[in-house]
This record gives sequence, C-alpha cells and structure tokens, in this order.
Amino acid sequence: MDFSTLCIHGSDRKYDNTGAISVPIFQSATFAHPGVGLSTGYDYSRLQNPTREHLEMTAAKLEGGVDAMAFSSGMAAIAALMELFSPGDHIIASDDLYGGSHRLFYNISEKNGLRFSLVNTSDISRIEAHIRPETKAIFIETPTNPMMHVTDIAAAARLAKSYNLLLIVDNTFLTPYYLKPLALGADIVIHSGTKFLGGHNDTLAGFLVVADSGLSERLRFIYKTIGGCLAPFDSWLIIRGIKTLAVRMDRQQDSAMKIAQWLQGHKKVKAVHYIGLPSHPDYEVSKRQGTGFGSMISFETDSEETAVRVLSKVSLIQYAESLGGVETLITYPMLQTHADIPKEEREAKGINERLLRLSVGLESPEDLIRDLEQAFEEE
Ligand SMILES: Cc1ncc(COP(=O)(O)O)c(C=O)c1O
Repeated sequence: MDFSTLCIHGSDRKYDNTGAISVPIFQSATFAHPGVGLSTGYDYSRLQNPTREHLEMTAAKLEGGVDAMAFSSGMAAIAALMELFSPGDHIIASDDLYGGSHRLFYNISEKNGLRFSLVNTSDISRIEAHIRPETKAIFIETPTNPMMHVTDIAAAARLAKSYNLLLIVDNTFLTPYYLKPLALGADIVIHSGTKFLGGHNDTLAGFLVVADSGLSERLRFIYKTIGGCLAPFDSWLIIRGIKTLAVRMDRQQDSAMKIAQWLQGHKKVKAVHYIGLPSHPDYEVSKRQGTGFGSMISFETDSEETAVRVLSKVSLIQYAESLGGVETLITYPMLQTHADIPKEEREAKGINERLLRLSVGLESPEDLIRDLEQAFEEE
C-alpha cells in the first residue's frame, strides 16, 4: 500500500458495525469483562484503548515497525524510553538535541544513574570513539534541532550492530513520509506527535515505534506501568492529522524551499540551514537516505537586533515554540527550545542570539515571504 493510502487506512480494524467512517472515540477509562477470566481484549485504558490502538497500528505501519506506543507527549515517550536502561548504562547522543531531551538526560536520567556523551553524530568515527563497555545505545536526532545536522543512519546502524547497541532515532522533523529509520537499521523511532503527525498545533502526543517484538514487550511493560498514555480524544485528533500527512509535508516542503532560497539572497541573513539546499553540508546524505527534506529552516541573521526585530514584527508568522503544524511558526532557540542548555555549550553549537528557526506551514509561500520581508525592514 502506498504511504498516502496508509495514512488514511493504516489500521483497517473495525470497532463497531455502524459503518462509521471515522474511528469512534472510546471515551472510557475501563471495560467490562464478559465473565471471570474473559476479556473483550480491552481491560483498562492505560493498557489499551480502541481509539489509541487504531492510532498505534497506523503509526507502526507508517514507520514499518512491529509496534507503536502513543504517549501524552514526545517527552513522555523519551522519558519512558530511558526506563529501558539501568544505573551505570551509557548513551551516546547527538550533541545538537532538542533542548527538552537534553534537560531530561542531564537533570533526570543522570540523577537515576545513566551517563551521556554528546557527540556530533554526523561523524560516525566520533560516535565510535566514545563507545565504552557500559555503552548501551546511540540516540540520534536527524536533522538536529535547530542546527540541521544529518546523521547517516545506515552507517550508525552498522556501528550499533557491531557493538550490540540500540540505535534510537528521533524522526520528528522528517516523519516516515520522508525518512524510515527502521528500514535503515534503527531499533527504535521516537516522535513528538505534537509536530507533523498531528500537524495542527492543537494536540500534544509522542510515539515510540519499535523494530522487534522483544523491544515491544519490554517497552509495553514500561508503558503500562508508568502510564504516560495518550487520551482517546487526543488519539483521535492525531489519527485525523495523519490522514493529511503526505499532502501537508509535500506542500510545506515546496514552500520551505522557496523561503530558504529567498533567505539565502537576503542581505541581513548570514547563513541558511536547510537540508534541501545543495549548499547544505549534509545535502548528499539527506538525498540518499530519505525521500524529502521537510520544512524546517534555521537561519542566522546579521545581528541580535535584526533577530529581535524579525521576531517582533512578523504578523502572519507567529512567534511561538513548536513546529510541524499548518501555521508557520518562528522560534528563538536561544530563549525558547534551548534555554536550559548552558550558554557556552549552546553558543559553541551555533545557537546564539542571531539564530532563528522557522517551521514553514501551509500558508501561501508568497504571503510568508512578504511577511518576512516587512519584518526585516528597519523602521
Ligand atoms: C525533535 C523533538 N523531539 C522531541 C520533542 C518533545 O516533544 P513534545 O513537545 O511533544 O513533548 C520535541 C519538541 O519540540 C522535538 O522538537
């Protein structure tokens, strides 16, 4: 089945016989048993709920996994994932991560005994150089947030296999429409479903998708025990969002390319980080391993003054945290998504007072460019 068909009919399980086209929202915390030792297949919604199950089956199919678990947010998914590991375990992660993952690792997971090395995972030899006997996993974000570095997933997977490590990929930015980490050898895929999967800036969600049934069993146990599951109504909203994933991603990518090219020609822009531009250092690997480049752009303005002016003057574009929705959002990573990362570490990565991040939505690209144009202008 083609991807766009899967987005609509990913799970064809029928939950009632009314002929309802839209999956029902089973707003029930618990389910009655037909008799002692008998179950309808549903017992309690923390374990499973039919609406969430429909979503999870769809997400698993889209990523080509054996199972998917839907969480109440991306961070709930990543926090549950950390429970796979034990005190003393070591994880190598991309050094340019979503700030929330960084905050979780260094403020909570470390307290629980896990250890992390942050490295530029675009360079496979650097990952290998950090492997030690306690290393258990490689955690990659690709492209990274916000600097848009890309990791060669197949090469990272070969390395992970040779050292018996799990390869975990946060696929929030490209989604399975453009990138399928499990097919390239990853073991676990993460999503902030809040972003492109939901697509409408109205619902928080997260996913873990796994490549094998052993991991599914271990993570399902953690999932039901911790309880960060997605509510039935929110599951339904994400199901609805996924139906239009392919068309949204294509249109948003087209617009992102136009805007990235326009930004490249602007005299107040010093650098544009968009993986679809042939000038991007990771353009070739992106082209080889995926089928698209997405709609996330970071760019560096000529001064802090320009960055602040753009943020204050945009009117159609909203100055807000988050990404992947139909509304175009502009973010100041230094003050928003990456505020908790120590200043020196943040600046060394290029997350400075001049850097802005744009999530291109579904508005007309010409309107978006006009909005940016007026926002750059000095009064
Ligand atoms: C790449 C990435 N992963 C994970 C998350 C966390 O997801 P959530 O905000 O749904 O908890 C985010 C949030 O921005 C993100 O950008």
